Amino acid sequence: MDYSNMRTASAEPLASAMIETFRAIGYSLETAVADIIDNSISAGAKNIWVDRIWDGGRSVITIKDDGRGMNDEEIRHALRPGYQNPNDERDIRDLGRFGLGLKTASFSQCRKVSVLSKRKDNSPEYWSWDLDYVAETNKWNLIHWIPDGYENAIDDLKSGTIVIWTDLDRVVSPDTITGDEFSHEKFSGDLDKVKRHLEMTFHRFIEDGDFRLWWCGNPVKPWDPFCTSETCTQPLPDDHIQGGITVKGYVLPHQKSFSTEQAFKAAEGIQGWSAQQGFYVYRGKRLLLAGNWLKLFKKEEPYKLVRIRIDIPNTQDKNWKIDIKKSQAYPPAKCREQLFSYAQRVRVTGLEVYKHRGRVIRERSGTDWQPLWLERRKDNQWFFEINRDNELVKSLKEMARNNPDKAFNLLLKLIEESIPVSSIYAKESSSEEPMKEPFGGIERDNLVPIAKAIYQNYVTGGMSANSAKELLLSQEPFNMYEDIIDAL
Ligand SMILES: Nc1ncnc2c1ncn2[C@@H]1O[C@H](COP(=O)(O)OP(=O)(O)OP(=O)(O)O)[C@@H](O)[C@H]1O
Ligand SMILES: [Mg+2]
Repeated sequence: MDYSNMRTASAEPLASAMIETFRAIGYSLETAVADIIDNSISAGAKNIWVDRIWDGGRSVITIKDDGRGMNDEEIRHALRPGYQNPNDERDIRDLGRFGLGLKTASFSQCRKVSVLSKRKDNSPEYWSWDLDYVAETNKWNLIHWIPDGYENAIDDLKSGTIVIWTDLDRVVSPDTITGDEFSHEKFSGDLDKVKRHLEMTFHRFIEDGDFRLWWCGNPVKPWDPFCTSETCTQPLPDDHIQGGITVKGYVLPHQKSFSTEQAFKAAEGIQGWSAQQGFYVYRGKRLLLAGNWLKLFKKEEPYKLVRIRIDIPNTQDKNWKIDIKKSQAYPPAKCREQLFSYAQRVRVTGLEVYKHRGRVIRERSGTDWQPLWLERRKDNQWFFEINRDNELVKSLKEMARNNPDKAFNLLLKLIEESIPVSSIYAKESSSEEPMKEPFGGIERDNLVPIAKAIYQNYVTGGMSANSAKELLLSQEPFNMYEDIIDAL
């Protein structure tokens, strides 16, 4: 195109409106803090401190690091939206991409973000964005301001940066008083979630000792989704797929095989056992997506022990459509197929371990194993049946002669306690064949004498004929055989 003779018109974004739009990118407090920490990691920090101060509507969150820091000009560039081109090639260890995170993550939570930073042997410098000032002036101007008491916040460092969020209107309502216990508790709860998110998101850096992450002065412990320190975790052989991507599957131990109850509880993760299954996508060592089947499978109870690590280099950002918040990724079509077949293999092992529960008991009880429940198939349908030859069932039958009430209650208890729930789950999700409908196998003719016996029992007990029929019709399977009941 030849632009030289074209008429043009300015269509600059309006600062006051545009900056408010930045707020709506959809960060949570967790993903916003993680995005700021990404910058500290990219700046080579050895220590990163996250702190929060509760003061009602004037509460503060800070993220400080001892990375390489910035000089005055660099701070202004860092705070300028879109200063860097997302298409620029980045160092392999750089966690940034869009040149936006510091701004968008901060604005999503607060109305004032201040950056105080210094390069080695330089003095600290600072600049702030204040959304109220931008709204008032409608200009893309920073202010040379820092919240009271933070001027010396990085004096203890040779080089480093502190990002200070004040006016946290998206976290605490601005008019909240310090003594508001309810809001205080909510604030603490929200920040606890952030802490757990960081334990997960940065666990590989912390495990490798790349840096130390401090939460209100205490070291953050890593949360390893793959429980690699558990002896019963099964790591599966890794595989390489298109684009320099590595996948490695893990099948976590069954509850009983965890070293301690505590370790089992911890492995559950933020969202709970079933929800944490799936792929864990890492860009560098940084976790982007946790417990997500990338639309290749549904989350299902029998696969809750399956977690698969995917490592993608930052050169794949475009192909994997990494989003600004670094919390989404979409594998390209070619990778999807490879991921699908790899995951299938891991899932088979996962299902085995999940079902193993019953087998462990069988092995322990020696040679004369007598299952209480038998798995059966009829007319291409499967179902479970109580084993009439089981010794326990036989002895309850014996007991029923002298003490029918006790035997009856014990039998019900036995059934309640032993229903093979996990096997049913597993069968239901892995089997192509359908499960037999309840009472689907009962022959109509066999029902008549049963209905008659119960009906007579009701009537001799003093019930009217109509009430007895009503009662029968309100119970399975008789509710489906109105004509039989009517004919009684
Ligand atoms: N803690 C820090 N220490 C040193 N430099 C920083 C720090 N935080 C930000 N910067 C500088 O500011 C720039 C802009 O940061 P910002 O998070 O907005 O974008 P980015 O990290 O480049 O990309 P992304 O949008 O993917 O996060 C960074 O590229 C870096 O040069
Ligand atoms: Mg960034």
